[in-house]
Amino acid sequence: MKSKYQKIKGTFDILPPDTQLWKEVENILHGISEQFSYEEIRTPALESINLFQQNVGYETDVSKEMFAWEDQSNQQVALKPEMTAPVVRAYIESGFFRSNPLCRLYYIDSLFRREKPQKGRQRQFNQFGVEAFGSSSIEQDVEVILIAKTCLKALSINETILHINNIGSPETRIKYEQLLKKYFSQNIKALSGLSQKRLDSNPIRILDSKEKEDKLIIQNAPIIKELLTAKEVENFNTLLANLDALNIQYVESPHLVRGLDYYNGTTFEITTESDKSQNALCGGGRYDFLVEQMGGPSTPAIGFAAGIERMIIESKHQIKKNAIDIYISCNESINSPKCFALVHNLIENDYKIFFDTNKKNPKNQIKDALKRNASFILMIDQDMTIKNIKSNEESAVSDFQQLLNFLTLQ
Ligand code: HAM
Repeated sequence: MKSKYQKIKGTFDILPPDTQLWKEVENILHGISEQFSYEEIRTPALESINLFQQNVGYETDVSKEMFAWEDQSNQQVALKPEMTAPVVRAYIESGFFRSNPLCRLYYIDSLFRREKPQKGRQRQFNQFGVEAFGSSSIEQDVEVILIAKTCLKALSINETILHINNIGSPETRIKYEQLLKKYFSQNIKALSGLSQKRLDSNPIRILDSKEKEDKLIIQNAPIIKELLTAKEVENFNTLLANLDALNIQYVESPHLVRGLDYYNGTTFEITTESDKSQNALCGGGRYDFLVEQMGGPSTPAIGFAAGIERMIIESKHQIKKNAIDIYISCNESINSPKCFALVHNLIENDYKIFFDTNKKNPKNQIKDALKRNASFILMIDQDMTIKNIKSNEESAVSDFQQLLNFLTLQ
């Protein structure tokens, strides 16, 4: 039967039993974040458009593909397309920078981008991410990458590649932009239409192009490493040495710039080994100038975000079997008060129950209990009988204590 209403293009329902998988995946991510002493932050779905346009960059896909509108009181609002700008806004607005100089936050949240939907690319999707404020040391970069790798490992996602680069300071970026502009201008005819348009406004973004014709030219484009200061090169080498010591494999990717304007220094992405178009599981980097740009004090920061849908596609995580302890059969309304008193006690004693409110006949209830993997069936009529479904052992019980005795002896 066709529903009168369909979901909006690019959005998805997460239905059982997948919700169980999601819950387990989210629990793993919460657990690892807490082990590293990162605290959870939740921010509103709606923000002002300016927050993203001015800080993620006007020319970025993320800004251009926002769900945004003018509301009834002429405010320009957007459904958040990413989390870093909202987290920075909240960090400044809450005064956390004063109370918590080394502030580490994480989130699991829904985001919205009006991209062309395909497998692994949705218009509403979910991210897990961390943002660490207040440390400029390279150890902070190592920790953030270690968190990302730990999460992927815990989700049984094994075949991944860590791409890593250092894009230097904003000044280096300007110099690099000029270098790229010169190089791409010399090859302008061979570039895709989109990249030709970007040549003036944002030549660095051409490096991110997925267009076939651009890829060849990008291969030979100048690399930013040549422009880095001695200190930046030293830092990058220290980062790589730490990754080596942790046995975290990486590929130096000199053209990895990321699709958002706020980055400097370390940038990284973790992809699957497949050459699927949506193979980026996770991306992040330093954004040491964003807090100040958004009105806060000068604060170094680094973070990453990972797409939960994409991780779930790649994950070999097995859902825990969540079997029912006690299947409840109570087919006469007159016995419901007695039944609910037991249900209430069972729940308080941490049993998982399934109450057949459809009142199927007892034969079908046994079949149903077997199908649902229940361990016991409790039949409540005038009398009460508890039965172990596997062993067929059964006993008449007159109150909860007797029921509990039977259950604990099994
Ligand atoms: P991003 O690279 O735009 O970075 O997104 C991070 C991850 O979110 C991607 O690697 C991908 O797995 C997932 N993702 C992005 N768009 C979609 C989509 N349309 N459908 C499904 N999954 C998607 C950021 O968002 C930065 N805020 C990351 C960051 C945090 N940098 C520093 N801190």
